[in-house]
Amino acid sequence: MDWDARYSAGDTPWEKGAPAPPLLEWLAQCAAADLPAGHILVPGCGLGHDVRALVAIQPAARVVGLDLSAEALRQARAFPKTGNEAYLLGDFLALPEPLHGRYDWVFEHTCFCAIDPARRADYATAACAALRPGGRLLAIFYLNPWDANEPLPPGGGPPFGVSVDELDALFARDFQLIEAHRPTRAYPGREGRELLRVLQKKS
Ligand SMILES: C[S@@+](CC[C@H](N)C(=O)[O-])C[C@H]1O[C@@H](n2cnc3c(N)ncnc32)[C@H](O)[C@@H]1O
Repeated sequence: MDWDARYSAGDTPWEKGAPAPPLLEWLAQCAAADLPAGHILVPGCGLGHDVRALVAIQPAARVVGLDLSAEALRQARAFPKTGNEAYLLGDFLALPEPLHGRYDWVFEHTCFCAIDPARRADYATAACAALRPGGRLLAIFYLNPWDANEPLPPGGGPPFGVSVDELDALFARDFQLIEAHRPTRAYPGREGRELLRVLQKKS
């Protein structure tokens, strides 16, 4: 997938113009002391709606959106600044060394489902590498993007679905599962298809 070409052409059906509803739902019910804080990384941030939602609720946090696409980041930077957000061009699967061990939180939303399933172990490794010991991965996983009766795109995605068993296997080595639930709120068409998990990096 040439993500930059898709953004340049405006061919971005995943782009909803608003933060992920399950993120907003989770933030709204979260005790203040448990909110993501400190340094937060959002890989595959696209136009940065989730980045700005995190900054809006936690103005003291340093939230960095990382994306492969220069055009997505150009559009993200064109939004009025919310607070301490910043955007960085880069490949999460080849995480730049200065970002290792830097983050208190990583927020996942539609980056995992965008990458080649053969590279999922690399995704889990990158999430672990980005976090400090004890840091947390807050993830909204897109479990089943396609209906059984729907024709799959060539190659099967993106977005690529994932099973709960596969998620368990991928993250068990480096992370402890803290919380899991099916969000109530979703973008239209994603109802019942997502799983929110909070995973803590093992010390
Ligand atoms: C389906 S889009 C979702 C964007 C955004 N999270 C949203 O919900 O609008 C996937 C995004 O991940 C980015 N991406 C894909 N692979 C990446 C990688 N290895 N590192 C960083 N960003 C990546 C793409 O450029 C794209 O912006």
